[in-house]
Amino acid sequence: MKVLMVCLGNICRSPLAEGILKHKFRKKNIDGYVDSAGTAAYHAGEYPDPRSMEIAERHGIDISDQRARKFDPEDFDRFDRIFAMDRSNYQNILAQARKPSDRQKVDLIMNMAYPGENMQVPDPYYGGDQGFQNVYKMLDLACDKIAAQAGKSISP
Ligand code: 4NP
Repeated sequence: MKVLMVCLGNICRSPLAEGILKHKFRKKNIDGYVDSAGTAAYHAGEYPDPRSMEIAERHGIDISDQRARKFDPEDFDRFDRIFAMDRSNYQNILAQARKPSDRQKVDLIMNMAYPGENMQVPDPYYGGDQGFQNVYKMLDLACDKIAAQAGKSISP
């Protein structure tokens, strides 16, 4: 399963989501591909936010090799699932869909853990460390569900 995680800047939430899901795929021996992008380009080329790198590191996950990039409509061709962190990212991605099958790939990531609730992963950029801890916990839960689903889809 090829999964793209999308937030606004691609420096706080989606790099964490990418790192967490890659880690779970590796642990479970799932043959998947994970990447992340931002709907805005203003941090393109940058490292993840130091606070995201730190909380990932605390959980044994190294995300320092990631660099921010902007979401591209061709990502609809490259990925099976596209997960948005909040409703604004979600609407932005949908607005770039070219056909119905593009739209079907997109969902809010927390709907994997709480189906139909449309819960958002809050933007932690202007907050403190607590915000990043909260984001980590939410993404860890959602990524558990994604990994469980990906594991099933490759089993006979
Ligand atoms: P992210 O967080 O979307 O989780 O990467 C943000 C990063 C930067 C900004 C906003 C959100 N910013 O306004 O620069």
